[in-house]
Amino acid sequence: MKKDFKRTLVTTALPYANGPVHIGHLAGVYVPADIYTRYLRLNGREVLMIGGSDEHGVPITIKARREGVTPQDIVDRYHSIIKESMSGLGISFDIYSRTTSDIHHEMASEFFRHLYEKGEFIERSSKQLYDEKAGQFLADRYVTGECPHCHNPRAYGDQCESCGTSLAPTDLINPRSALTDTVPVMRDTFHWYLPLDKWQDYLGKWILEGHKEWRPNVYGQCKSWLEMGLQPRAVSRDLDWGVPVPVEGADGKVLYVWFDAPIGYISNTRELLPDSWEKWWKDPETRIINFIGKDNIVFHCIVFPAMLSAYGDGYQLPDNVPANEFLNLEGDKISTSRNWAVWLHEYLEDFPGKQDVLRYVLTANAPETKDNDFTWADFQARNNNELVAILGNFVNRALVLTHKYFGGKVPAPSALQATDLDVLAEIRALKQSVADAIEGFHFRDALREAMNMARAGNKYLQETEPWKTAKTDMERTATILHTALQITASLAVVFEPFLPFMSEKLCRILGLTDLNWDMVGCGELLSAGSDIGEPELLFEKIEDAAVQAQVQKLLDAKKANAVAAWKPDPQASDVDIDTFGRCDLRVGTVLECERVPKADKLLRFLIDDGTGSPRTIVSGIAKYYDPEQLRGKQICFIANLPPRKLRGVESCGMILSAVSSDGSLVVIGPTGPVAPGSKVG
Ligand code: MF3
Ligand code: ZN
Repeated sequence: MKKDFKRTLVTTALPYANGPVHIGHLAGVYVPADIYTRYLRLNGREVLMIGGSDEHGVPITIKARREGVTPQDIVDRYHSIIKESMSGLGISFDIYSRTTSDIHHEMASEFFRHLYEKGEFIERSSKQLYDEKAGQFLADRYVTGECPHCHNPRAYGDQCESCGTSLAPTDLINPRSALTDTVPVMRDTFHWYLPLDKWQDYLGKWILEGHKEWRPNVYGQCKSWLEMGLQPRAVSRDLDWGVPVPVEGADGKVLYVWFDAPIGYISNTRELLPDSWEKWWKDPETRIINFIGKDNIVFHCIVFPAMLSAYGDGYQLPDNVPANEFLNLEGDKISTSRNWAVWLHEYLEDFPGKQDVLRYVLTANAPETKDNDFTWADFQARNNNELVAILGNFVNRALVLTHKYFGGKVPAPSALQATDLDVLAEIRALKQSVADAIEGFHFRDALREAMNMARAGNKYLQETEPWKTAKTDMERTATILHTALQITASLAVVFEPFLPFMSEKLCRILGLTDLNWDMVGCGELLSAGSDIGEPELLFEKIEDAAVQAQVQKLLDAKKANAVAAWKPDPQASDVDIDTFGRCDLRVGTVLECERVPKADKLLRFLIDDGTGSPRTIVSGIAKYYDPEQLRGKQICFIANLPPRKLRGVESCGMILSAVSSDGSLVVIGPTGPVAPGSKVG
């Protein structure tokens, strides 16, 4: 860490309060930010972690309209779910506030007014899409249509989620209103724009020359934006939900959500520290780090820095913007609207006491350099094979053996041997790797190196075999367990940023308090004679049933989506009545129905068709019915299809059935009893 900074301000992207947070948010932003902040705190550094809900913007008003409630109802609901669940996972915000707060509305208005008065905006009229039925302009996500780049038919007016391009509503091919599904018209309006082109050279220098250390994905995205040439960007919208534009003649206009939301970082700092917030934003000795997901890069690296620079008054730009790529779920993009997600509040309910397992898996598999996939199988495997089998196992052995041989007291060591000195040296070396990795924002590497400490501990016990030396040499056994306990104590500290719940439990057992980073690798953390609490398991195995239930939940969501998206097939082209009349449709009564041996799809029917000699029909519907369900029922069939052989059985006709939106199938029959052989027409 650069020592010339006095303090670090960690900001975390403000999640939209239009839904709960899911594992994608956590892996992308909150877990890494929390690791980083906890690490700095452990180092005794002055640090703040700022968070809050982003409560403006179109996704919120759309959701409110769909549910027939107010936007305020929506944000109240999700803000409290988000806030509570984040705290449940141990995300250690110094403040988690919201952008509907009074203090935020004041700050965001003041920010706009200051730029307005300094002449930092340009005012422009333009034509925009307008929904005549709803009587309003259609900003951003109020419009959907075809992406002009990748031709995804469901692109939004601000972005195509398929190819990631940012768009303007007027870029869409065949735009439609998300409010009324009507075709919008063009209408005149005007907005204030921040002329980003004015900041092109300044930002170009700052990033491309000054911040070559930024992650390649961040640096690369900035570079391509800069190379395309920055354009003025509208900072107001024709909407009634948001911070009203605080100037004359701006009725019906609010600040664009991406103008007000990042100011939320400042408002929330101010809410926390009304008297000293400014030093966190305006002192060059403060280092600002923005944790975000990759879809937020341009706003944090270009738009917000331009806003801060335009404001002046000493506002500092971020020192780093560690943006993550995306986390997918079981091979599919996470989606709030499709309910394809693992929701944090549900996880906490389904896996009580297992917060650290999720933190661990999301870090071990963090999408730092490329998109990654979360699978429940991997979740289970990492818990069982890593947390239980490596970390839990080492700690448990050290604690249990101490109780077994030394009555639960830290034994006094005699002279350390090379193996003991080696393992302690290895722990110290790993400590440095963990620190370097965290400081470089490489959290997966950091976690792996921390796990290597536990691996080193296991190897040490394997080599020294205290359970064997205990039979002959208690003095040596004491030295080994003394050393193993010091490693255990190091683990309790080094894992605090990653697995704070485990760390707390282990510290309680070991009697460790006032943690700080220097304790890691220290050979004398636990003094001889001090008491070790009763061993408790740090992690427990996760059984198949628990993860299968989660997979089932996802499959159910997928099915519900398919049903919701289902539409009947379009009508077929016309047939004339004579053609139809040539199909001989009849009613028959099922006399017998049985499975066709060795053909799991087929049922064989014997049908009374009124002729006196029952007819055989074979039908591929065995998946949907037990044969008993159909015996005695009346069904409709096509009588005059040429006979054909199915698995050696001759089938004379076809039974009519319908497939429903969820893929289920029902056989069609008359709604009242009719004589077998009656014609259908
Ligand atoms: N709500 C935005 C999102 O979820 C992030 C806002 S970050 C802030 O993508 F800087 F604007 F606060
Ligand atoms: Zn696209």
